[in-house]
Amino acid sequence: METTLIILKPDAVQRGLMGRIISRFEDKGLQVAGAKFMRISPELAARHYTDHEGKPFYEGLVSFMTSSPVLVLALRGCGAISICRSMMGATFGSKADPGTIRGDFGVSNSFNLIHGSDSVESAARELELFFETSELIDWQRAGEGWIYDLSSGTPE
Ligand code: RTP
Ligand code: MG
Repeated sequence: METTLIILKPDAVQRGLMGRIISRFEDKGLQVAGAKFMRISPELAARHYTDHEGKPFYEGLVSFMTSSPVLVLALRGCGAISICRSMMGATFGSKADPGTIRGDFGVSNSFNLIHGSDSVESAARELELFFETSELIDWQRAGEGWIYDLSSGTPE
């Protein structure tokens, strides 16, 4: 099982798209392990996007991410990191395929609705930035046996 960090960015919150985006992940079978509605500080945005420091779009990115509240989610599932990245679509709304979140809900390249961790290492780092360990909840879904085949003992 993997846990990934998702951020519904200021544009998704302002446009009232939170519910529809969360529904997509729930419909897919991903489990919410943590959720936090918050305003990101410039310091936290800088730590989160540290790999992009110095790039031409960095200042605008930090300013956008801190401009209005976001919804931060920890989503769990087998292969959750890559599943979420494919559900998000390509970085730029203008390039993202139909059927993806960025492809269906946006057209802008800067206001691209959602962040998702891009690797196991990034997920671990980002989850630690946004959540205390106690805020990530281990819970059993009633329907788990119909989401995964659990007959071998491991989810398939
Ligand atoms: P994210 O980190 O937000 O999930 O997005 P991503 O992996 O798809 O894209 P990444 O390369 O990590 O870039 C982070 C955010 O910076 C903005 N960006 N602008 N103008 C540009 O060339 C450019 N490149 C990236 C986007 O808002 C992107 O989400
Ligand atoms: Mg990224």
